[in-house]
Amino acid sequence: MIWPALRWTLFHLEPERAHRLAHAALHRVTPGLARLRRPKVPPELHVSCLGLEFDGPVGLAAGFDKGDAAIAGLFALGFSHVEIGTITPRPQPGNEPPRLFRLVEHRALINRMGFNNAGAEVCAQRLSRVPPAARMGPVGVNVGKNKTTPNEDAAADYLACIDRLHPYADYLVVNISSPNTPGLRQLQEREQLDALLRACVARLRERAPGKPLLVKLAPDLSPTALDEAVDVAIEAGVSGIVATNTTLSRAGVERHPRATEAGGLSGAPLEPLATSVVRRCYARAAGRVPIVGAGGVMSAEDAYAKIRAGAALVQVYTGLVYGGPGFVRQLNDGLAKLLARDGFRSVAEAVGADHRPAERASV
Ligand SMILES: Cc1cc2nc3c(=O)[nH]c(=O)nc-3n(C[C@H](O)[C@H](O)[C@H](O)COP(=O)(O)O)c2cc1C
Repeated sequence: MIWPALRWTLFHLEPERAHRLAHAALHRVTPGLARLRRPKVPPELHVSCLGLEFDGPVGLAAGFDKGDAAIAGLFALGFSHVEIGTITPRPQPGNEPPRLFRLVEHRALINRMGFNNAGAEVCAQRLSRVPPAARMGPVGVNVGKNKTTPNEDAAADYLACIDRLHPYADYLVVNISSPNTPGLRQLQEREQLDALLRACVARLRERAPGKPLLVKLAPDLSPTALDEAVDVAIEAGVSGIVATNTTLSRAGVERHPRATEAGGLSGAPLEPLATSVVRRCYARAAGRVPIVGAGGVMSAEDAYAKIRAGAALVQVYTGLVYGGPGFVRQLNDGLAKLLARDGFRSVAEAVGADHRPAERASV
């Protein structure tokens, strides 16, 4: 109920400042308080995926917590899992501010943060201090390369992050899809992707056998490039695919004064594109690995659309900025109703339903 007033206040602040304030508040939440306040997730939303248990399908996408590890506060919002990062081996400041913009009329953001983070060592120390009671679900760590590292040496950066951070991660994500690190997205091309992912998979198998490693893809790949990336990733041994990161497209926001800002667009305008990518990844993966769907989930209907398109789990960032602290509970409650409406007894039953003709009726 106080969210409209709080949002009004936060939205009058410079976006990064508002983010810092919100994050600082989440940092103050103790595990005890988090357990007390955490909204109950309807039991039918339980998801078993990647060899892990999730009490619901909705998690926090990477980029909101870039290694400060406000774990208890984030779980208190109702997320089933929290993805930290992107973390790079060495600390880096990211791009010059301003680098985060609201497109309020479109319920969207444009960001060109550029992997601002304190580096793998500091992040590992912070995660090591998180009390076990704060981990109310799986914690993922999303890793990347430093801006100054040339693509030829990128693998060493990812491996350094895996080495230092795997003890604190229930799963790891190789991020090669941020539009804000020059050249990063080239790592999605066949040969580079194959070499990078094989090296990462081998290293994690050596260090922590059985721990899942996922890859996060951009929504801007052509259909053929996407199919190829999915095949290469699965053949390299990844456990899952996160689809998608932000987009370079400005479709739907062309006339907004901020549309010309460089960076990745997220939120409502990304939804149709990201969902189509989830759909294609699911079809191509054909059950070999699960798909984690992200991009423009602003309502329970959006989350449900991702699940029906093939997402076993769903992640949100921009929706939280616009929807506030009650957002995840709204998604979970709404999802439970949508599943019941369509006669699904679990999330798993609904995953990929759009691909099965008999279940297309309610699309
Ligand atoms: C401000 C901001 C920073 C982000 N930083 C990262 C990041 O560091 N690593 C990453 O993999 N994704 C990052 N993302 C992308 C999100 O994880 C997500 O994939 C994308 O925003 C689409 O989801 P949404 O529409 O729910 O925001 C960032 C997004 C935003 C808005």
